[in-house]
Amino acid sequence: MASTRRHFIQASSIASLAWQAAEGQDKKFSANDRIQIALIGTGGMGMSDVRSALLVPGVELVACCDVYDGRLQRAKELWGSQIFTTRDHREILARKDIDAVIVATPDHWHAAITMEALQAGKHVYCEKPMVHEIPEGKPVIEAQKRSGKFLQIGSQYASSLGFLKARDLFRAGAIGELNLVEAWLDRNSALGAWQYSIPPDASPKTVDWDRFLGKAPKRPFEAIRLFRWRNYNDYGTGVAGDLFVHLFTGIHTVTDSLGPTRIFATGGLRFWKDGRDAPDVMLALVDYPKTNTHPEFSLSLKVNFVAGSSGENFGVRFVGSEGVMSATMTSVTLTRTPRETEPGYTINTFAEATQKQFLKEYYEKYPPTHPTADSIRPERQERYIPPPSHNPHHEHHRNFYHAIRSNKPFFEDGVFGFRTAGPALLCNTSYFERRICSWDPQTMTAS
Ligand SMILES: NC(=O)c1ccc[n+]([C@@H]2O[C@H](COP(=O)([O-])OP(=O)(O)OC[C@H]3O[C@@H](n4cnc5c(N)ncnc54)[C@H](O)[C@@H]3O)[C@@H](O)[C@H]2O)c1
Repeated sequence: MASTRRHFIQASSIASLAWQAAEGQDKKFSANDRIQIALIGTGGMGMSDVRSALLVPGVELVACCDVYDGRLQRAKELWGSQIFTTRDHREILARKDIDAVIVATPDHWHAAITMEALQAGKHVYCEKPMVHEIPEGKPVIEAQKRSGKFLQIGSQYASSLGFLKARDLFRAGAIGELNLVEAWLDRNSALGAWQYSIPPDASPKTVDWDRFLGKAPKRPFEAIRLFRWRNYNDYGTGVAGDLFVHLFTGIHTVTDSLGPTRIFATGGLRFWKDGRDAPDVMLALVDYPKTNTHPEFSLSLKVNFVAGSSGENFGVRFVGSEGVMSATMTSVTLTRTPRETEPGYTINTFAEATQKQFLKEYYEKYPPTHPTADSIRPERQERYIPPPSHNPHHEHHRNFYHAIRSNKPFFEDGVFGFRTAGPALLCNTSYFERRICSWDPQTMTAS
């Protein structure tokens, strides 16, 4: 506990203290409201999840699980020697003092551990994508229903004020009828392309290799497959499961859509030829059906890990009949430009007499006016930026613990999570099988 507090003090910036004060207003908690959590998968994102979770008053980390000993040692260094550590997640689930678990393993373990944890009576925060394969989706949803516990999926786009403000504007009709969404996420670095560091002490002694493999095909120890698991389809879900799924989450949050019906993806492995299965450039074209909340619209998705420029280039543009909204996690810009309504004329291929007749009729219908300073209409642009204290990832964890305490689920539950993971995984199917895939967003079934 002492080191938890120490960590908290180290990690707290003024921004996060402000955020925590808001949490205090939201809910006064007592010792009985304490929520004891465990982390399963103590890697990059899992540690980041714990850091966000520990900012929520009354949340305490009790245990960590990982198949690589170095990360368990690091957990004790960060959060204290009292943290229980194990290579076997079942030892975590058997503990009565744990209320909730964070599942931040590679994707191929998400469904199995989430289902076991729910069955063991734990609330679950499972990192995105909810599942590694489509047939795993419905069993996870059923396990959540049977358990009566909460399941929240870890795409923080659903808690970002950029996308939530875009949702309010969209619902208020700010862009008219949606017809197209363009979303992209480009990178141009080794780290961005998942070339993560491999610790020099990685060996069959320090790694529980069979436990890492899990349902994946058996093979001899190879450190690269554990530490760069995203590159291999046996464990990861490629750029679609890693990044398209975030974009789907943002888009479904804004539009209240249940999901698309048709999916086509293409791309290739253009640069990072390090033995990986996953493409480093992927494009998808996706059709959304008409619903009560929006008309039919098309979606284009793009990830390029060889983007030729520095930094991460990211955007989601919602294009409607009356305006365009560009959302990020921490901003939304709404632009409305008056539309030209006169049809114009392109008549010089007509015979001269026809041209004259055309122009006579045209000017009767659209009398010529000369624009003046008064008559030109403004393009309107509004930009909304949340306060600097807003951190969508912190907020996403706050929403999880708030759901547990208030007994009201947050909307990014297992059903929402499968409705974003399913279409993302079908982008992979389309890419590898070179075909257009169909998805029924109501029944969550692929064909
Ligand atoms: N929400 C986000 O923005 C975001 C960002 C990054 C990653 N993620 C997700 O988080 C998850 C983890 O990604 P990461 O980048 O932290 O990867 P990582 O490799 O850094 O961490 C995964 C950890 O899980 C451990 N592990 C593997 N099999 C295990 C098992 N059976 N039991 C316990 N531990 C096991 C690995 O040893 C590793 O330490 C992925 O599903 C990823 O998609 C989400």
